[in-house]
Amino acid sequence: MAMSTQSTGVKDIFKLNGGAPIEYRRVYVWEMPVRAYHWINAIALTLLCVTGYMIGHPVRIAYAQEAYQQYWFGSVRFLHFASAYVYVFNFAARIYWGFVGNKYAKWTNFFPLKRWQREEIADVIKTDVLQVKMHGGISTGHNSLAAFVYFFTFLAFCVQTITGFALYSSMSHSWMPQMFRWVVPLMGGEMSVRFWHHLLLWFFITFVVVHIYLSFYHDYIEGRGTVSSIIGGWKFDRVQGAETEGAGEQKSKKS
Ligand code: HEM
Ligand code: HEM
Repeated sequence: MAMSTQSTGVKDIFKLNGGAPIEYRRVYVWEMPVRAYHWINAIALTLLCVTGYMIGHPVRIAYAQEAYQQYWFGSVRFLHFASAYVYVFNFAARIYWGFVGNKYAKWTNFFPLKRWQREEIADVIKTDVLQVKMHGGISTGHNSLAAFVYFFTFLAFCVQTITGFALYSSMSHSWMPQMFRWVVPLMGGEMSVRFWHHLLLWFFITFVVVHIYLSFYHDYIEGRGTVSSIIGGWKFDRVQGAETEGAGEQKSKKS
């Protein structure tokens, strides 16, 4: 089936509303701590990927100075370690916010334990991936498929933190890296820790490319301010029509 070039479902809603203007409700979805977490994480992760890549594939630059007179690689490593601390404490703050934040930030969103969440995952796959269906009801917060993908991303954040600090434990006597010293023998030595730490770089690069594409895609297809929501916090919901708040939840109450 060919995909509509208009926002999905807009035509149907016009029909529903007899051609009259559609009413929108402004919903405060992402609180300030979630937005701050998002952008601090985006900056720290970008720096970690770039500096990590440089550590893995050092560039050979011909300098007039002797190697011992230069410190550029030291600066790259310093930037990697400094962003690592920012990224880890920022992530810890987001975990805390998953317990005290609003319903869109709650940790329960990331586990599809409820029936309506699983139905929504199937719905998003049919609509966005297979493109065989126009949108049904989708949640105002993260759609359930996105939330489930973020769960794996958060897992990858944990693995990267553990392997990163494990590598760091042979270079720093600080208490935090030392806490992860035991990981190195457990994973079969530094070489395999480094291997997994390097491999995950490519997971993050893939995630970021797809994530940014999908943010714009959903913004376009749903027409309710997805991209600006992660800056200002607000999304727009149609009062009438398919995309109302907690549409998935309402469906589950009926079933
Ligand atoms: C390194 C870059 C990025 C990373 C690692 C990243 C990661 C994430 C994560 C983990 C979430 C879930 C937030 C939470 O619940 O705490 C999220 C949400 C979101 N991000 Fe990003 N992001 C990045 C860049 C961007 C950019 C550049 C945009 C804008 C185009 C963007 C738009 C969004 C939006 C709109 C959401 C909410 C989406 C939804 O409704 O599910 N992100 N991002
Ligand atoms: C989450 C995003 C991160 C990414 C994408 C990333 C990426 C990388 C990459 C690609 C390497 C080079 C591995 C190699 O091929 O030899 C590296 C090295 C390293 N990373 Fe990370 N890293 C991240 C987080 C961390 C964290 C949280 C720490 C904790 C301190 C850390 C500590 C280290 C250390 C100690 C090295 C080895 C440095 C050296 O041998 O000079 N990384 N990282």
